[in-house]
Amino acid sequence: MKVTVSRKAHFNAAHRLYRKDWSPQQNDDIFGKCNNPNFHGHNYELIVSVTGEIDIVTGYVIDMKILKEIIKSEVEDAFDHKNLNLDVPDFENLNPTAENIAVVIYNKIKPKLKSVFDLEITLYETPRNFVTYPAK
Ligand code: NI
Repeated sequence: MKVTVSRKAHFNAAHRLYRKDWSPQQNDDIFGKCNNPNFHGHNYELIVSVTGEIDIVTGYVIDMKILKEIIKSEVEDAFDHKNLNLDVPDFENLNPTAENIAVVIYNKIKPKLKSVFDLEITLYETPRNFVTYPAK
């Protein structure tokens, strides 16, 4: 019997959306306020969902203490109170959109889980705007 278990987490981070190979006007046209050269912040809300069989001995899919530690080491310690463009090597050449942040988070957490588990990342950039990876 497969069950999905989820844990919420949170981080604050700054970013700027722009392409180095575009003119200031092109960047303004596409990214608008998110292209502010002095950066701006978001309160990101993260939901990490793991799907797998219930372990017959423990009754758990995954021990939430373990999931909590993975999220802390891979996401919170790496992103919280950071400037994603300047402080996080993953975004040195990757626009830190919510879409790309979700994919980066997935790629950091997935290798830390047993390969039998399915992983889904939901990332809220604002209370109204959120992305899910992998796509349904
Ligand atoms: Ni933004």
